Amino acid sequence: MKDRLAIEGGNPVIEPGSVKPWPVIDQRDKDAVMRVLDGAYLCGGGAPEAKALEEEWARYVGRKYCLTTSSGTAALHMALAALNIGPGDEVIVPSHTFLATASCVLHAGAIPVFVDIDRRTYTMDPEKIEEKTSDHTKAIIPVHLHGLCADMDRIQSIAKKHKLFVIEDACQAHGAEYNGKKAGTLGDLAAFSLNSSKNLCAGEGGLLVMDDDTHFSRADMLRMFGDEVDDETKLRVYNASILGYMYRNQELPAAFTRAQLQRLDENNDIRIQNCDYLSENLKGIPGLHTPYVPEGYKHVYWMYVIEFYPEETDIGLSPTEFRIGMEKALFAEGVQLGQWQTMPVPDQDLFQTKKGYAASGFPWSYTERGKQIVYRGTEFPNALDLCERYTAVVGFAPPNDLSLMEKYVKAFKKVFANLGVVKKHWQDDMVAHYRGELFRAK
Ligand SMILES: Cc1ncc(COP(=O)(O)O)c(C=O)c1O
Repeated sequence: MKDRLAIEGGNPVIEPGSVKPWPVIDQRDKDAVMRVLDGAYLCGGGAPEAKALEEEWARYVGRKYCLTTSSGTAALHMALAALNIGPGDEVIVPSHTFLATASCVLHAGAIPVFVDIDRRTYTMDPEKIEEKTSDHTKAIIPVHLHGLCADMDRIQSIAKKHKLFVIEDACQAHGAEYNGKKAGTLGDLAAFSLNSSKNLCAGEGGLLVMDDDTHFSRADMLRMFGDEVDDETKLRVYNASILGYMYRNQELPAAFTRAQLQRLDENNDIRIQNCDYLSENLKGIPGLHTPYVPEGYKHVYWMYVIEFYPEETDIGLSPTEFRIGMEKALFAEGVQLGQWQTMPVPDQDLFQTKKGYAASGFPWSYTERGKQIVYRGTEFPNALDLCERYTAVVGFAPPNDLSLMEKYVKAFKKVFANLGVVKKHWQDDMVAHYRGELFRAK
């Protein structure tokens, strides 16, 4: 029977192997990597590929300075350290993000303070920031989540009022725009990840951008052990004057990233075209909500996040049960999807136990105020509700095109036409995972 759901033994809409992995690697990437292998440098802060990548990314984003790093997490930590944020300080972060947005604050010895997200955009809710600021607050880290910028005008105006720094976590937002301005130009400093899942990728790596000369020279030292560099010769003098780290990138990933950067806009356009197609063709299905993109925002879709609302159907399942059932039925049809974050970040064990550095309780134990902090996911109802309902659809990135998206839409329509069957199978012993075969590294 043609319309029998695959979860019941019917034919899947999407043949196995139809969803192609990201990133697209072609001869240009291979040539770039070979250029390094045939050259003289494999690493070094001033090595040619790293330097060229920094110049090209600073130009692309529209910033004075860029430093390439070993990861997005390293870039975030360097940003905080470059601003002299440390023990006793607090930093505002969103409740729904990847852990590193908050753990980088702990790496700096400071305390993350969470605020809930806007229910429609999933980014930090500016309305909720002021109730969490104190005399100890030094910075806000808004996250441009899934490829959509946070509401930066409102966040900036709060930051100005309270004299706070703004560090953009742009790890998921290469090429995203907010009112015509690129992600990466909307705060004091901005961090990007080059992990293999990202719109611009290297395998692993990161990029930190900024305009301020002092922030730049501090970040530059922090990246390489805190070492001084001779002004004239530009050589290290092997005298560390501040506590630094080893956060340099390497030449192979830097060269690979440069080759990928040539196609970033082209690849983002394909992501947008595919996701717009999904949204246009899935909108209006009762029980399904597609991503919300406010006026003036360019969403570059690191992930395509949808939500399930059983209240709009007569299936009689809870939001979580409905979401799990839909994930299983869609996954069986060949749609690559599943959850990424499963709980608000403050609900993760790290924040529940507050063991900190070597179980010492640092940085919370550093101040009486820190010791009293208790993290409760229930304080973040929007993040909690989202985690019950959302799933991340993947497989829309190039080289996948509209022909696959047509099949995705067919699969959704097929499954939504058989909700009674979904109900029977929501507890089946199978797990839909967004990685599928696609996300190779995380
Ligand atoms: C929002 C966000 N912040 C920070 C990071 C950390 O980046 P990396 O994995 O390169 O350290 C990621 C990466 O997954 C991320 O998605």
